Amino acid sequence: MDKVLEGKLAFITGGSRGIGKAVALKLADWGADVIINYYKNKEKADQVIKEIEAKGRKGYAIQGDFGKKEDIDRVFEEIKDKFGYLDIFVSNAVASGREVVGGFAPFLKLREKGTDRIFNITVKGFIWSAQKAVPLMKDRKGKIIAISSTGTKDYMPYYAIHAAAKSALEALVRYLAVEVGPMGINVNTVSGGPVDTEALQLFPDYELIKERVSKMTPLGRFGTAEDLANVVALLCLPEAEWIQGQTIVVDGGLSLIRGTKES
Ligand SMILES: NC(=O)c1ccc[n+]([C@@H]2O[C@H](COP(=O)([O-])OP(=O)(O)OC[C@H]3O[C@@H](n4cnc5c(N)ncnc54)[C@H](OP(=O)(O)O)[C@@H]3O)[C@@H](O)[C@H]2O)c1
Repeated sequence: MDKVLEGKLAFITGGSRGIGKAVALKLADWGADVIINYYKNKEKADQVIKEIEAKGRKGYAIQGDFGKKEDIDRVFEEIKDKFGYLDIFVSNAVASGREVVGGFAPFLKLREKGTDRIFNITVKGFIWSAQKAVPLMKDRKGKIIAISSTGTKDYMPYYAIHAAAKSALEALVRYLAVEVGPMGINVNTVSGGPVDTEALQLFPDYELIKERVSKMTPLGRFGTAEDLANVVALLCLPEAEWIQGQTIVVDGGLSLIRGTKES
């Protein structure tokens, strides 16, 4: 693929590992300069920047907690001061590790702390970020892409709060798409089926999920971070501009056979 995103500047939250990292590297492959945000893993973020630079692109990492409005404001101020514009914003960060205790649990064991944390990052984090990203995209035909999960439609153990937050995120994407469409900005959601990242490894019975899902998926394998990153990159192309406010499911066809039994 040619450097179809040459001259574009992308910003990805949670770009230090997993799907966010794959998106950062894919957009760099296609010629974009890339800013990533990370929360705790500075070393991993620095490594991603090295990989972006090795592709001949500019890379820049900014620490920030996207569950806190003051951090979000600070990160976008830094982007505004250093670059002054933005073409692509990918809202990908998700609460993980000890952060989700009380929010990643069976329904009757849900507690306020983890629940608030998940909503603050996934839902409010998207609102405060998009409010800052849009003015930086003035006259640039910007692309805003939120990463969601097909867990909004299925039952997954411990996933009630993430599923509820992602459902809210998908609704916010539709509302924003209508309101900023007249500015030439595309807003869409990429909704992934299970992908093998650290976030997935938190699930009880992770190995069993992997084995079952691989067997059930029509395309016959488990999803990768690159599978999602490829579709994010496609949505950044000018040719995708007529896709607006949609939730694009990227799961190898798994959701088509929802409800059928494992063969
Ligand atoms: N894995 C799946 O099966 C799957 C499927 C569909 C959709 N998704 C979605 O894809 C996205 C990425 O998931 P993943 O599996 O790649 O997750 P992951 O491997 O757990 O990575 C999470 C990323 O988010 C960052 N992060 C965590 N807390 C943050 C905070 N408070 N502020 C800013 N950044 C923060 C982490 O930064 P540090 O490294 O600094 O901690 C890391 O870069 C999420 O929105 C997730 O819901 C995942």
